[in-house]
Amino acid sequence: MKTQRIADILKSERTDADVTAQGWVRTKRGNKNVAFLALNDGSCVANLQIVVDLAKIGEEQLKPVTTGACVRVDGRLVKSPGAGQGVEVQAERIEVYGTADPESYPLQKKGHSLEFLRDIAYLRPRTNTFGAVLRIRHAMAYAIHEYFNKNGFYYFHTPIITASDCEGAGAMFQVTTLDMENPPRTDEGRVDYAQDFFGKQCSLTVSGQLEGELGALALGRIYTFGPTFRAENSNTPRHASEFWMIEPEAAFFELEDNMELAEDFLKYLIRYALEHCREDLEFMNKMWDKGLIDRLHFVLEHDFKRLEYTEAIDILKASGRKFEFPCDWGCDLQSEHERYLVEEHFKRPVILINYPKEIKAFYMKQNDDGKTVRGMDVLFPGIGEIIGGSEREADYGKLHARVRELGMNERELWWYLDTRRWGSAPHSGFGLGFDRLLIFVTGLTNIRDVQPFPRTPQHADF
Ligand code: 4AD
Ligand code: MG
Repeated sequence: MKTQRIADILKSERTDADVTAQGWVRTKRGNKNVAFLALNDGSCVANLQIVVDLAKIGEEQLKPVTTGACVRVDGRLVKSPGAGQGVEVQAERIEVYGTADPESYPLQKKGHSLEFLRDIAYLRPRTNTFGAVLRIRHAMAYAIHEYFNKNGFYYFHTPIITASDCEGAGAMFQVTTLDMENPPRTDEGRVDYAQDFFGKQCSLTVSGQLEGELGALALGRIYTFGPTFRAENSNTPRHASEFWMIEPEAAFFELEDNMELAEDFLKYLIRYALEHCREDLEFMNKMWDKGLIDRLHFVLEHDFKRLEYTEAIDILKASGRKFEFPCDWGCDLQSEHERYLVEEHFKRPVILINYPKEIKAFYMKQNDDGKTVRGMDVLFPGIGEIIGGSEREADYGKLHARVRELGMNERELWWYLDTRRWGSAPHSGFGLGFDRLLIFVTGLTNIRDVQPFPRTPQHADF
């Protein structure tokens, strides 16, 4: 490739050579004789210093080269005499691709708050922080595919438009082409979805799991990695209406194997970040979370604690802690409970298993006690639940009974139930919230700051 990225130029050993750099001006400073530009092209957190001799390139020509402008610089790459950078470019020629009026360009030199940057999410990839976050995001996506490829899992594409509610929570976004002002009606006066695009009521998926199971019961090991959607009105720093989920599903995996997979997978991703995103992590550590890199190492070096739900409730009740939501056997754990277990009691990640069946989805394998199911949540410091999964109910009779008991729409799930009639097999899987993983790996605290364009209740800009 002819064009060079700044990341490559900065690493170049070939000094005293001609070079062309292109990017956005972060800052301009200097005096009557010389100007210094800090140029960034998004390839790394570091800027390339451009030295402009004003005897060569006049002040007039330099005027439109302001913070935010996009330029091309042709010059010579030399060893830098100054501190802070190994090499710099002595400019011979500067071409301005696009100016950025200093009166109106919102990203001036001073640091901006994360809240302010959310309002200008269309520009924030140009900041150091979002450059780092988005590069780490890319690296994690790449590492996820690498991990599964190395471990015999096939990337399996599950549909985004679906007629089934995997989690049974009813928090789905409907997909329709019906005339909202004047929908067709049945004789009973209901909206007639038979006349809708798919001939039935459809929504955006909340999870690819059900179709993922079909893949696992044929290919052995599969994973999905795609967008999922939840129409729940949760305004928390960890919930988004649109997020990406990774869902491995494996035949012949029991709950124990599933836990092992989850721990090994998460550790692989964290190790990958430490090895491949060093500069960006150091930047995040310095700017946003002084404990970040230590915490990543800490998770790598400790076994995740395996804990029964029932034991967790005993620990919470014995803690003497006043929780906002008091909890008893049977309650769904809140983030405050999860974080108490992880951050204060065990001081390491926890895998919580064998939950009451009432608080978990219909597909989880039922235990012999008649009360609990083989569900598993992985709880992380600062986040709470990062993974949710289970061993699946493989017995047709038990699964069918549970679907009935919950009053679910059997007719929509016939294909799922059929897999338990023909060649059913023990199998397990889980879902990792990609954006929650990013919260953990970047040290930021809000999901809105790790997604390029977050969708949350009342927010769908850009
Ligand atoms: O626990 P959940 O709802 O599990 C499932 O959807 C299963 N079908 C997964 C499976 O077994 N294949 O979601 C899985 C993970 C959560 O642990 C969390 O990390 C993330 O997805 N998640 C969200 N992330 C951001 N915003 C939301 N609203 C999320 N809801 C779940
Ligand atoms: Mg869950």
